[in-house]
Amino acid sequence: MDVAMIDDRMLPISELDRSYLDRGLYFGDGVYEVIRSYDGHLFALDEHLARFERSLREIQILGIDIEDVRQKVLSAFEHSGYVNARVYFHITRGCQSREHLPGQDITPNFLVIVSELEDCPETKQKGIAVSTHPDWRWKRCDIKSLNLLANVLARIEAGKKGASEAILVDDDGTITEGASSAFFAVDRTEKAVITRPLGHDILSSITRAMVIRISEKAGLSVIEKAMTPAQAVGCDELFIAVTTKDIVPVTQFDGVRIGSGQCGEITHQLINEFKALLREVSKS
Ligand SMILES: Cc1ncc(COP(=O)(O)O)c(C=O)c1O
Repeated sequence: MDVAMIDDRMLPISELDRSYLDRGLYFGDGVYEVIRSYDGHLFALDEHLARFERSLREIQILGIDIEDVRQKVLSAFEHSGYVNARVYFHITRGCQSREHLPGQDITPNFLVIVSELEDCPETKQKGIAVSTHPDWRWKRCDIKSLNLLANVLARIEAGKKGASEAILVDDDGTITEGASSAFFAVDRTEKAVITRPLGHDILSSITRAMVIRISEKAGLSVIEKAMTPAQAVGCDELFIAVTTKDIVPVTQFDGVRIGSGQCGEITHQLINEFKALLREVSKS
């Protein structure tokens, strides 16, 4: 008889809770999304569902009805009663005994978690400290996969240095993105925002796309190019972009103060443009 031991409890494998056999647990074999709501409305739901569908396709989890996912996400969000929420959901390939090769007969598992989300206006003013870390991730960072060990390790090291985000640096010495955010620089003279072009080495961040949209609307040019940490430190302003926090100024980079050490003027303008976009979306 196959047996299992959970902490100190021995039991036959047949009595093991199914969730212990999830391929997501052993291999990170699944994909996820994080959506947020503002004032009771889920923001950019279509964009997140489209990226989720793509991630599923890229890792060959087939046969998922994305409209069914939409309904489940909406229903969990409504059930929570939260106005400002973070909605996390994932699909794993399914449960089976630990084998690299997936079984033919397994069915995907779906999980949604809705939690309350507080905004932090003070951080938007003061900004955050970030520190660089080698990008140890795999070569398909465009897939929002559950495999986040390299991101977690980078965040742990950043935390040790008093930084709240790790900025990942590729083998060629250029910044890819944050461990859990897109990364932007601002050139005030050129009236431009700079960010790495999309590719397999970064996630196609939904907030990044929104920032590009509002920057262009605000008359800024958008330059998609890779930057080294030294080039980033030389820029007038830096910020990160991510669903749960939208735009957050970076006021310290590897211990070096950026600009005045407070949110820069263009970053501030973009934060306000983002708010305007939210008002526009909530009216439509
Ligand atoms: C590695 C990485 N890059 C960028 C982002 C930002 O993506 P989004 O704007 O879609 O939240 C995230 C968000 O979790 C991320 O994990």
